[in-house]
Amino acid sequence: MTSDETPARSTEPTGIDTTKAHGARVYNYLLGGQANFEVDREAAERAYAAWPGGIDAVRADVREHRAAQGRVVRYLVGGAGITQFLDIGSGLPQGDSVHEVALREVPDARVVYVDRDPVVLAHANELLRGTPEGLVRYVYGDLRDPQLILREAAKTLDFSQPAAVLLFGILHFFGDADDPVGLVGQLMAPLAPGSCLALTHLASDLHSEELSETFNRLNSAMAESVTLRSRAEVAAFLGGLDLVEPGVTQASHWRPAPGTAVPESQMWCGLGRKAS
Ligand SMILES: C[S@@+](CC[C@H](N)C(=O)[O-])C[C@H]1O[C@@H](n2cnc3c(N)ncnc32)[C@H](O)[C@@H]1O
Repeated sequence: MTSDETPARSTEPTGIDTTKAHGARVYNYLLGGQANFEVDREAAERAYAAWPGGIDAVRADVREHRAAQGRVVRYLVGGAGITQFLDIGSGLPQGDSVHEVALREVPDARVVYVDRDPVVLAHANELLRGTPEGLVRYVYGDLRDPQLILREAAKTLDFSQPAAVLLFGILHFFGDADDPVGLVGQLMAPLAPGSCLALTHLASDLHSEELSETFNRLNSAMAESVTLRSRAEVAAFLGGLDLVEPGVTQASHWRPAPGTAVPESQMWCGLGRKAS
């Protein structure tokens, strides 16, 4: 797709809500981006003041989360031989997006991005600028409808071959009543043997008190509320898959580059593979 084409989408986005903070925009603010509104900045400043080290510590953690995503994508290409990616809850373009990392490793990698935030859609052209035609596509969709996502993604990805589903920083926007484990199961069910699921999730059992206060504050200001989960609950998303070493760890501890300092992280990270 070229930069002046309308990105492919499955449904039309609704209007942009500036009365409440939204996850994609708060995350963009934390990463120093410009695609956010006063309501997002205020919510982030107020909530993350409760965090030890304040918002600067959270920003470092978010950058670490992006770095972990890069390591996972490089592992998927180099270690698991995957060249097709379905990145759901892709967020705003922040540099070193999945397609940038994957295309550096394999020039014919294919990536489908999915997000339900209309601001993300508005920046899709920026995300896709300069990408080889047909290899990277954007779908406006909601993880609550996995069948629609799979149908749209199948226009770009060949699901008879292994693919990787990436769910980075999205599943904590689902309460247990939404049955996120069931939704993930529906996504993975039709994928070919050798396919992978990689995810990160905000932790309830790391720094639990500080996280609870931060997210109580954020939840009162956000359109979508956050549910923190324990390591065991996060591992349940990967049930039925072969867990790749080092298992479910803090995102910063997931295969860090040798010789680098490994900071603490507030996110669990794990990667599972469908048996061949
Ligand atoms: C914290 S951002 C993570 C961005 C990116 N994956 C990363 O890790 O750098 C979470 C993203 O998930 C999206 N999201 C939340 N709920 C969603 C849903 N039900 N379906 C699709 N996207 C969703 C938000 O709009 C936001 O862009």
